[in-house]
Amino acid sequence: MSDFREDGAAALEWAARYLERVEELPVLAQVQPGELSARLPASPPQEAEPFAAVLRDLDELLLPAFTNWQHPRFFAYFAVTASEPGILAELLAATLNQVAIVWRASPASTELELRVVDWVRQLLGLPEGWHGHIEDTASTSTLAALIAARHVTGRNVVVCSEHAHSSVEKDARMLGMELRRVPADDELRMRVDGYDLDDVAAVVATVGTTSFASVDPVRELAERAHAAGAWLHVDAAYAGSSWICEEERWSADGVELADSLVLNPHKWLLVPMDCSLLWTARPDEFREAFTLTPEYLRTADDAFALADYGPALGRRFRSLKLWAVLRCYGAEGLRAIMREHVRLAELFAGWVAESDDWELVAPQRFSLVVFRRHGSDSENEELLSRVNASGEIFISHTKLDGRYVLRLAIGNARTTEADVRRAWDVLNKEAGR
Ligand SMILES: Cc1ncc(COP(=O)(O)O)c(C=O)c1O
Repeated sequence: MSDFREDGAAALEWAARYLERVEELPVLAQVQPGELSARLPASPPQEAEPFAAVLRDLDELLLPAFTNWQHPRFFAYFAVTASEPGILAELLAATLNQVAIVWRASPASTELELRVVDWVRQLLGLPEGWHGHIEDTASTSTLAALIAARHVTGRNVVVCSEHAHSSVEKDARMLGMELRRVPADDELRMRVDGYDLDDVAAVVATVGTTSFASVDPVRELAERAHAAGAWLHVDAAYAGSSWICEEERWSADGVELADSLVLNPHKWLLVPMDCSLLWTARPDEFREAFTLTPEYLRTADDAFALADYGPALGRRFRSLKLWAVLRCYGAEGLRAIMREHVRLAELFAGWVAESDDWELVAPQRFSLVVFRRHGSDSENEELLSRVNASGEIFISHTKLDGRYVLRLAIGNARTTEADVRRAWDVLNKEAGR
């Protein structure tokens, strides 16, 4: 155990120093594909090495190959934060190594999960009585929802917006379900009519699309889906967290009608990857779709088996980090960070809107700004390459009506106004080259 203490102290020191100096590292890994592979030993070690050797190689081999998601100027995809309480809770969860296959295999993991997921439900203003549990990712949560929808309806078609996340398409494909993508309106919201729902198992509405953070008309979609006997699943993986702030609840309109809803605390709620919350208003039917208890797991006390709500049997102790984050920040602490992110996004969007050289290409929502430089697609694409190669900021792109557009997403708790200002300066400097 003395090695464990010593190595543990060294690992924690590594983690603390990393977080202190992450800002000095390039945001996007400045390596070529295969560069790290060429430096990693091709065959496994035969003899034991000290843990210190692992830490040394973390610095010497791996560090240059990290894209630093904890960097305050990470603005790509959806920027995230692994907060300190969440990091420490992950260490403890690994220490405890709970494998929550049935209630008795980990009463603590099972009951804490039910309680903290319900805390989040309350903070977001979602309906009482919904059953919530934790999956690894939104891809899995939506997969589970589609399985339940197919089970309940006996139908095999999924309908979503042209802007829905690719995970919906991948899930449908894995399930052998047919996917129909529906066009969006001028504000990038899924259209409510102009298509039939008679043979549809599930309609997937998105609150906060990945490309544009647009918000589908959930209420109208839910009403139409239910009238046609279909299931309504809401993908609020990114933007749902914002509902802890009253002023963002406009985007939750109608979600109380959902049959299921996914939200990722690993996106905008300071919880380290991975943690995806899946609620359902129809827990009995959900359980029917998933329950399969082999003899060796039968017990008299299996009332809370969370494996009955999704694909996995063995379940990680993810609730510990969510619990730690909720307690160590409190709802007010989380709101303050989220409001600052929204303020910074609005500030950046204002600079874009006021400039003669740039344009906003989608209505600014939550903490995402979608914009482009006046000029051709290839000019914008080359600009993105140059700013990311600078290592100073990392942004990503998408396409709108075939045009190449840039995305700046704010979601790291360390991001300050100075970081956003720097992003604007880097973009302008590189555009001027
Ligand atoms: C709206 C939305 N849904 C689903 C996903 C997939 O999330 P995950 O990586 O947790 O599967 C994403 C990822 O960014 C997303 O933005």
